[in-house]
Amino acid sequence: MEVPDTLRYTRIPLTHGSGAIPAVGFGTLIPDPLATKQATKTALEVGFRHLDCAERYRNEEAIGDAMQAVFKAGTIRRQDVFVTTKLWNTNHRPDRVKSAFDGSLRRLQLNYVDCYLIHTPFAFRPGDEQDPRDERGQVIYDRGVTLIETWQALERLVDEGQCKSIGFSDITLEKLREIVAAARIKPAVVQVESHPYLPEWELLDFCREHGIVLTAGAPLGHDMDPKVVNDPVITTIAQRVHKTPAQVALAWAVQRGTAFLTTSTKPHNIQANFEISTLPEDAMREIRDRITTSVRFNTVVGTGVPGFIPRGQ
Ligand SMILES: NC(=O)c1ccc[n+]([C@@H]2O[C@H](COP(=O)([O-])OP(=O)(O)OC[C@H]3O[C@@H](n4cnc5c(N)ncnc54)[C@H](OP(=O)(O)O)[C@@H]3O)[C@@H](O)[C@H]2O)c1
Repeated sequence: MEVPDTLRYTRIPLTHGSGAIPAVGFGTLIPDPLATKQATKTALEVGFRHLDCAERYRNEEAIGDAMQAVFKAGTIRRQDVFVTTKLWNTNHRPDRVKSAFDGSLRRLQLNYVDCYLIHTPFAFRPGDEQDPRDERGQVIYDRGVTLIETWQALERLVDEGQCKSIGFSDITLEKLREIVAAARIKPAVVQVESHPYLPEWELLDFCREHGIVLTAGAPLGHDMDPKVVNDPVITTIAQRVHKTPAQVALAWAVQRGTAFLTTSTKPHNIQANFEISTLPEDAMREIRDRITTSVRFNTVVGTGVPGFIPRGQ
């Protein structure tokens, strides 16, 4: 009898937080709220149990509505889903963190989140304007708060129990080292852009060493050129293993020990992205050794400006 492939159900225990994170995750960076609700509902129905959200995506209500609809249908319970959301750059001042967090909880219609991330290590001018700019169009940064002060405010959220784990997104290895050295509660999760064209092996090694889960955002390269799914190494493996190129890139992400977040508004892509299967070891080696293209699609790590969100949104 054939043994069922369980790669899609992989869960990675959180060393610095409670619970385990499903490696197969659905990202909700979708501009239209109706499309967000529909895609999130579909994602939960086809099997995704990890949702990645953010205050900055301005659609947490739609994800809350989708979760409520699915929970009411009775097949999936709140505790079956791992929900991550993120603190935006304009809320880094410690006195703003709790209300920003409570706002996310309210919009998501939840009484706890599984993981709360600092969206980027860059503090912007505090206030309601999420993209504060000066008259020359330059971002107005906030020099009045340090990253460790913001982190300590997140540690207090864990102490209070409404957030099971904390971490960072879009952080460099250099900044992560500093926080890991100074933090009382170590980061449980680090979310960065990562795909076969940006494998971030050094960061992954550091995360492994320190019990941190690396979550790969944009695991298909955000569908930008040069397209990961058109890479000849990936397409050749896909033909060989009878999977799509996207499924090969996503399986690779899980098998090398990361979680991933993929996004789609198309039901057939959402379903296919969940239905990944284990790649043979030679395919894993080929992706590591034979792909030479190297691309970072999102410059957010250098500026705090989210590269995949058009200015003004
Ligand atoms: N922390 C951060 O700053 C940050 C930055 C970026 C992303 N993220 C997180 O990571 C998530 C994923 O990022 P991403 O949207 O760049 O993910 P991605 O999965 O790399 O790219 C999504 C794009 O690929 C297409 N696609 C999805 N499945 C496909 C398939 N099976 N075959 C071919 N094309 C496919 C989608 O188009 P269709 O809709 O047409 O399928 C969409 O245009 C975000 O939603 C967000 O949660 C975080």
